[in-house]
Amino acid sequence: MTVLSGTVLLTGASGGIGHAIARAVAPTSAELILSGRRTELLDPLAGELGARVIACDLGVREDVKRLVEQAGQVDVLIANAGVPAGGLLDELTQEQIDHMLEVNLRATIALARALAPGMVERRRGHLVFMSSLQGKASTPVSSVYCATKFGVRGFALALREDLRRHTVGVSVVLPGFIRDAGMFADAEVKLPPGVGTRSPEDVARAVVSAIERNRAEVAVAPVGLRLGAAVASVAPAVSAAVSRRLGSARIAERVVAGQRANR
Ligand SMILES: NC(=O)c1ccc[n+]([C@@H]2O[C@H](COP(=O)([O-])OP(=O)(O)OC[C@H]3O[C@@H](n4cnc5c(N)ncnc54)[C@H](OP(=O)(O)O)[C@@H]3O)[C@@H](O)[C@H]2O)c1
Repeated sequence: MTVLSGTVLLTGASGGIGHAIARAVAPTSAELILSGRRTELLDPLAGELGARVIACDLGVREDVKRLVEQAGQVDVLIANAGVPAGGLLDELTQEQIDHMLEVNLRATIALARALAPGMVERRRGHLVFMSSLQGKASTPVSSVYCATKFGVRGFALALREDLRRHTVGVSVVLPGFIRDAGMFADAEVKLPPGVGTRSPEDVARAVVSAIERNRAEVAVAPVGLRLGAAVASVAPAVSAAVSRRLGSARIAERVVAGQRANR
């Protein structure tokens, strides 16, 4: 019996990728808990899937505590919520930066800290963290977002080693450009020819596969982008120089401009 047959808590369920993950895990989970702030999007999804909604603002620490209390026993945490967090460092206010760190990184770690002990005690559970290819390869105009996504990835991979002996699994998922729905699609940026995308359903399949096979890290992107990210992690300066020639700054600026309203 897979751990996905237990209780699953999904954050960011009101978003583009979150909706796809909810639909992918609902058929096997005994109980699915959907979280986010926009209950007007969560309630109809919960009705369709027979799920429970717990509204939570991950930028508010008391709210994160309340989410954990109301969720009860959780067998699988899918920490998917995130804010785009793009922009040059000097054009972001400290308040905006704190909010990005709070939602993308601090709340993610707090949820894991609160829920992992129960999994360890039961010797059964899985934690999935949504990072990004930008958690492996940095991009221009995104220093704070990259900080949060590198942070989530490092946290996940280190925690995986700590929880291994307790038979609790940990996976990190790294999407590239995701079309149709979600924060990249919302930015409405046309990518240059040859830069491929993946769908929210591809990310959802990767999440399910990560849990079922206890995979450490799953990238959801065409092979070219995955290779680029692998090179960036061993030779960041070489990778940045190549990306510069390929016009990565222009793409990044367009994405950030499209996401500015959602910081
Ligand atoms: N789309 C992509 O191309 C892409 C690529 C790489 C990584 N990712 C990562 O994938 C994850 C999902 O992104 P997405 O594309 O589905 O984006 P999205 O459609 O903008 O969804 C973001 C989700 O995060 C939640 N969220 C944001 N701020 C929150 C807060 N203060 N409290 C609670 N929930 C909050 C939103 O819920 P409410 O607004 O209802 O609170 C929403 O459900 C993110 O971690 C993102 O960084 C996405």
